[in-house]
Amino acid sequence: TYVVTDNCIACKYTDCVEVCPVDCFYEGENTLVIHPDECIDCGVCEPECPADAIRPDTEPGMEDWVEFNRQYAQIWPVITVKKDALPDHKAHDGETGKREKYFS
Ligand code: SF4
Ligand code: F3S
Repeated sequence: TYVVTDNCIACKYTDCVEVCPVDCFYEGENTLVIHPDECIDCGVCEPECPADAIRPDTEPGMEDWVEFNRQYAQIWPVITVKKDALPDHKAHDGETGKREKYFS
């Protein structure tokens, strides 16, 4: 599966949702997540993210992110149409530790 990681938080560009063939992106207030059981591993969303927030779970240290994505994909609504990024997205792009800050 692919997963949405830290740099989506507080940015949420949403370019990714338009290309997913199985519509497995889900939207929360501050970030998006991918449903790990629905993602077919096609990889087309990865280069679409301007924040480079989408990673394959084969990269080291992704277990936590898979669980984060799974947890919220089960409770957030699906998103299939691109919308404006969050107002302060430029200021938050590249900031570290956003998950701790926004989800604790
Ligand atoms: Fe959707 Fe493919 Fe990205 Fe998985 S890898 S979330 S199926 S676009
Ligand atoms: Fe987030 Fe990148 Fe999609 S910032 S909303 S994963 S395009």
